[in-house]
Amino acid sequence: MNKRINLIISNEKYQEYLKKNAEYEDKRGFCTHDLDHFLDTARIGYILNLEKGLGIPKDIIYGAALLHDIGKWKQYKDNISHEIASVSLSGEILEKAEYSSDEITKIQTAILSHRDSAVEEEDTLAGILFVADKLSRKCFECVMEKECDWSEARKNKQITY
Ligand SMILES: [Fe+2]
Repeated sequence: MNKRINLIISNEKYQEYLKKNAEYEDKRGFCTHDLDHFLDTARIGYILNLEKGLGIPKDIIYGAALLHDIGKWKQYKDNISHEIASVSLSGEILEKAEYSSDEITKIQTAILSHRDSAVEEEDTLAGILFVADKLSRKCFECVMEKECDWSEARKNKQITY
């Protein structure tokens, strides 16, 4: 069940992209896009999936969460929206982690809409990823909160999970 999750984590390219995110966010005061954020998003996503009884397999949720911001460094480097960059970097990693082409399409669709509030209410992988991504952030203890461009409604001011 967890084999494919660990194939993502141990993928050389995945490790390289994590390092690139860290390099570009070295001096960033706002939220970072690192493995902690990806795992928080995955675990909250899995909790939501269980609470809602959606039955989405764990490694599909983790696949989406572990990769949803993996192209953030490209946004800093080339000004490409990171959901688009993350989709393009995710394909090869997911293939090597033995996801089927149907599963890769589902995961990439969710990654592509993870900043689109239109999916927020959906009981789908995309909806779970959107909500878990926001709930993973610790706005309640963030010293940059006043300068953050997230809307007040979006900020996570209380612990839910
Ligand atoms: Fe994120």
